[in-house]
Amino acid sequence: MFPAPLTVPRPMLTPEGQPAMADWSLTPSKVHLNHGSYGSVPRAAQAHQLKLKELMDQNPCPWFMGQFELVATARTEIAEFLIVDPRHLALVPNASAGVSAVYNSLVFAPGAEIVTTNHAYGAVLQGAERVARKAGGKVRIAEIPLAAGAEEVCALVMAEVNPRTALIVVDQITSATARAFPVEEIARAASLLGVPVLVDAAHAPGVLESPVPDFEGFWVGNLHKFACAPRGTAALVARGPQAQALEPLIDSWGFPYSFPENFDHVGTQDVTSWMAARTAFDTIEERYGWATFRNYARELCDYGQALIGEAFANATGQNPAVDVGMPIGPLRLIRLPEGLATTHEDSHAVRGYISDQLDIETAITTFNGQGYLRLSAHLYNSPKDYEIFAERAVPELVRLAHSL
Ligand SMILES: Cc1ncc(COP(=O)(O)O)c(C=O)c1O
Repeated sequence: MFPAPLTVPRPMLTPEGQPAMADWSLTPSKVHLNHGSYGSVPRAAQAHQLKLKELMDQNPCPWFMGQFELVATARTEIAEFLIVDPRHLALVPNASAGVSAVYNSLVFAPGAEIVTTNHAYGAVLQGAERVARKAGGKVRIAEIPLAAGAEEVCALVMAEVNPRTALIVVDQITSATARAFPVEEIARAASLLGVPVLVDAAHAPGVLESPVPDFEGFWVGNLHKFACAPRGTAALVARGPQAQALEPLIDSWGFPYSFPENFDHVGTQDVTSWMAARTAFDTIEERYGWATFRNYARELCDYGQALIGEAFANATGQNPAVDVGMPIGPLRLIRLPEGLATTHEDSHAVRGYISDQLDIETAITTFNGQGYLRLSAHLYNSPKDYEIFAERAVPELVRLAHSL
């Protein structure tokens, strides 16, 4: 079973003494336990972005003529949050776009192979298959057990590398299995063989204090998940000789420039989310502190995982605890009763059912034919959210499993 937490975390309050939820605009008619999928933007950052949009529409001509300068400023602010040199960071709309920019910029020799893992995000894997197919090569998948530790993960990934390997794509924090991978160790081992590495760090900003590892290669992270920036904000960090090969997905007026300035020119596109991102970072730092967020989310997930796990165990007699190697603070897995959400389609259906029938937003994932509840925690969550899940959703999920 999951270890029982010693204390129930005290709900987070704003500096004015209100529940932290007051800083967000999430509908009170739902329980929100799925920050990990699409994030949630604090009111202050929403207001800042709205102001920028108003300015843009008061006179679009000067706005768009000078947009690249505003983007360069936003890039510096976001680089500061990620503790990265802004000369190594380009802004992109989302992690998917950053990954596609890398796939499209690298030259894959005939027969080139891409190595990734069985934990890779579906769309990122599809992209790898697209470019490998184009080169007449293939994607090799390292099968990583959920419980594998850092050394085992690194060894299993590197075992798939061969002289045809043109790129290794590895998650820093996985989506379906909510675990970390030892990306620095993998990058180190890959660099000895001269193989570039792309780190899919969609979930890392905000979760890790200094999320960009010290390595030469590519790193893509979403600022609109745990870092709470307005949606459409992500960073592509590139260091080393391959960085200058990167080309933006949009052929705009950045073509005379090199990385990352070539990415600052995005054509006629509303990128006010990038410019308001800093307000989200500052809101959390000034009103709560990022370190406080990380501790609170970890404690809350410990509590929620133990409580909900116990409710499942009592109802099914099965142990829902999952042995996850390298678990992380604000995302956790709980095994669902046998037979539930065993496919990607079923997991979507179960998630939709819980949302529609029980007014609880959560993530249901599938890995190796087993369904999991993936819990998230952010500052606006409180122990009550997990208690409601245990009371309302656990009996319903057990009933669903029995009806199969
Ligand atoms: C591991 C991982 N990679 C990539 C993505 C894609 O992110 P986006 O949809 O913002 O491009 C996600 C989305 O949840 C993810 O979890």
